[in-house]
Amino acid sequence: MKRLSRYRKHRYAGPLLLTFALFIIGTSFSVASASTHRSTTTFSRSTAIDAGRQLFLKGCSSCHGLNAEGGSIAPSLIGVGAASVDFQVGTGRMPMADMTVQAMRKKPAYTPEQVAALAEYVASLAPGPAIPGAELLTYERDGNTAQGGELFRSNCAMCHNFSGQGGALSQGKYAPTLMGVDPVTMYEAMIVGPQSMPVFSDKIITPQEKLSIIKFLKAAEVEPALGGTALGRVGPVTEGLLIWTLGIGLLIGIAVWLTTKAR
Ligand code: HEC
Ligand code: HEC
Repeated sequence: MKRLSRYRKHRYAGPLLLTFALFIIGTSFSVASASTHRSTTTFSRSTAIDAGRQLFLKGCSSCHGLNAEGGSIAPSLIGVGAASVDFQVGTGRMPMADMTVQAMRKKPAYTPEQVAALAEYVASLAPGPAIPGAELLTYERDGNTAQGGELFRSNCAMCHNFSGQGGALSQGKYAPTLMGVDPVTMYEAMIVGPQSMPVFSDKIITPQEKLSIIKFLKAAEVEPALGGTALGRVGPVTEGLLIWTLGIGLLIGIAVWLTTKAR
């Protein structure tokens, strides 16, 4: 003790003690927060369902009913599955803001954890399509861009346009652009069939073919637009239309100019 107290007067004693104290506080804090972190990841399934139910009662039940049974405003969610909830809430379509035409993609109102809890809750009501996990989304490895392009042109292009840029449908509805959409959302859209989009079951488009479509769309995203403006990348029709109107317009202009000169 005597030897220790001799060091107390040393000029480094203060700074050293401070560093030591800070170190202790720091490590104990990180240990404490690590253990709280652990407890959220081992968050049991039933707590997630409970949390989801609470979120549902606050944010969704006014339209979908207290037990997700549906009502006059919105459809029942019994059996739609976690994939549908993840798609709708994860892309910000739900909670629906504007009930006029179709639920639009917007900034999500819920955090990823809350979306997961809502999905767990809805999935607990009745079985339905699950959220495709990372082990299923191996499109880089198992997808084939050329096959994906063919499948896309025969199944999706009539609504989403040949290069996935999106397009108008009837009655003011539209199919959104597929550029910049993440692979989980793409897979979910195909198995869920949101609003006017059909469901593409695994019998119609196998899981491997779905991966090819995703790979094709991801490749289209990074493809550079060669030769000036892409004109929506629809192909010769818009290009022809543009040159037709511009060309004829120019000819009419010249004709008018010539006749006024002659007078
Ligand atoms: C203002 C009313 C409203 C609110 C609030 C709302 N929804 Fe919806 N929801 C709708 C309507 C309307 C539809 C049907 C849209 C359509 O298909 O055109 C729908 C559709 C859905 C679907 C698709 C169902 C299917 O058949 O696949 C899911 C999933 C969904 N809502 C989840 C939620 C969740 C979760 C919440 C709360 C975070 C929520 N909704 C809040 C009105 C609402
Ligand atoms: C009959 C028209 C139609 C067909 C065919 C169709 N879709 Fe869609 N798709 C839609 C509509 C409409 C929406 C928007 C739904 C919504 O907002 O809830 C949509 C939404 C999507 C989304 C979500 C995009 C986003 O911004 O979140 C993806 C991804 C998608 N479709 C992919 C596909 C793929 C892949 C195919 C072909 C296998 C396909 N669709 C076929 C009409 C269609």
